[in-house]
Amino acid sequence: MKPITMLTCYDALTAKIAEKAGIDYLLVGDSGGTNVLGYGDVCEVRLEDMCFMTKSVARAKTKCKIVADIPYEAVFEKPAEILTAAKKLTDSGADILKLEIEEGRIEMLKTLTAAGFSVCTHIGYTPQTPNLKLSAQGKDLSRAQELVKFAKQSQEFGAEMIVLELIPANLAKYITEILTIPTIGIGAGKFCSGQVQVWCDIAGFSPRIFKHAKLFANAGETLLNAFSSFAEEVRNGNFPTPANAVSVDEAIVEELKKQG
Ligand code: KIV
Repeated sequence: MKPITMLTCYDALTAKIAEKAGIDYLLVGDSGGTNVLGYGDVCEVRLEDMCFMTKSVARAKTKCKIVADIPYEAVFEKPAEILTAAKKLTDSGADILKLEIEEGRIEMLKTLTAAGFSVCTHIGYTPQTPNLKLSAQGKDLSRAQELVKFAKQSQEFGAEMIVLELIPANLAKYITEILTIPTIGIGAGKFCSGQVQVWCDIAGFSPRIFKHAKLFANAGETLLNAFSSFAEEVRNGNFPTPANAVSVDEAIVEELKKQG
């Protein structure tokens, strides 16, 4: 089967570019909170932020499927209102909802799928989990067993795909082999059914290049050059030129001057 491609996407502008590039799924990740909305941590992202970004992506009307993160607020602060949050996200344009799974959260998956929502679970490094170190998960037997359990439960309780983040490649391969639902890896090696990346990490907008990412283009530098040249040319009078403007008949200006 052709590997599935998924990229994060937080607005209509990048949604259209991703569609043109042939990306299958657009992930409105809560990483948009830190990458574009200016939050310091994904746990600060509110449900209304997720709906705002999802609506923007949906307005692009691409043929890509939209996956939206269920944010920390809905999972940890208002778990009793999870179905309301899910409805708000799907009303905003999400086709699939992404739920991070750690111990105790399978009930939430059951609630969502029983209510008819399409869900993508997310296991391994789960950024919404307080105090979880940004490092590979499942390197010791007990955590590996736990991740395999979450993967099996994801499938059993109706998830339609599963993101594997920062999971050793051979463990991710094993998880992919025991499941029938697709696995989408990020920092989980090449044996997953597909790959997801945070677009800012692969296009030169992140302050560092992560081990799990690759700089496919340095659009950040290109944009910086464009903005700098604009500022310089405005200041030195080289922009705009007559070609960037229109004129009216000089007689009209003269008449206006006469009228005062
Ligand atoms: O929010 C996000 O960008 C994610 C990806 C890292 C999978 O969850």
